[in-house]
Amino acid sequence: MADIDSRGGRTYFDKLILEWVDGVHHPHDAGLEYAFAAPGIHGMPAIQVGRAEGALIAMLLRLANAKKVVEVGTLAGYSTIHLARAVGPEGHVWSVEYDTKHAGVARDVLRSAGVDDRVTVVEGAGVEMLPTLEEHGPFDAVFIDADKVNYDRYGRWAARNLRPGGLLIGDNVFLFGRLLEDGDDAVAMRRFHEDAREQFDTACVTTPDGLLVGVKRPPPA
Ligand SMILES: C[S@@+](CC[C@H](N)C(=O)[O-])C[C@H]1O[C@@H](n2cnc3c(N)ncnc32)[C@H](O)[C@@H]1O
Repeated sequence: MADIDSRGGRTYFDKLILEWVDGVHHPHDAGLEYAFAAPGIHGMPAIQVGRAEGALIAMLLRLANAKKVVEVGTLAGYSTIHLARAVGPEGHVWSVEYDTKHAGVARDVLRSAGVDDRVTVVEGAGVEMLPTLEEHGPFDAVFIDADKVNYDRYGRWAARNLRPGGLLIGDNVFLFGRLLEDGDDAVAMRRFHEDAREQFDTACVTTPDGLLVGVKRPPPA
């Protein structure tokens, strides 16, 4: 159920509730724990997805039987481990990261988690690196979690390079509360939402900062 308050944006969780449900539903093994801690250890921003989002994204990939996945925004590889485990040993993840230090830490984290054989960390800017991955497509899922001002471009690339039934997933789609403002990133993010709706069946999950999930519709007969 929802009520008038929750429909208006009120949430019913706090830090203690989140910690309890994370403990029950989203436990970390050593690989995920190191990945989650790595940004703090290495002086990087601790802006990885939440534990529930990581688990949800992995579950969606498994439901879609995703084997070939592209991620934009690796950071230290926390979400990448979720993606890599979801695709299994026969699958592959290409994760694009602009920052050389982040890419290096991620490679170490992915090695520790035992999934480095099924992940390629692609160093460079998303808009430049995505076209270099097209030879591996069509893809089963694209997860976008990088520079917000290019979300519309990443979304259009995903629409062209996903198979019908493939998943488009975008994090931070409320743009930290600035979605309806005037900046270039807000304009791009609104376009990302609207473009996605044209080619995907979409739902915007009300995580703390919004998670857009889309399933690519088949071309019209
Ligand atoms: C929110 S973090 C990614 C978190 C990661 N997906 C996770 O949940 O563990 C965003 C990352 O995108 C990277 N980034 C920023 N601009 C980028 C760009 N133009 N192309 C590729 N990566 C970029 C940042 O360096 C940062 O590591």
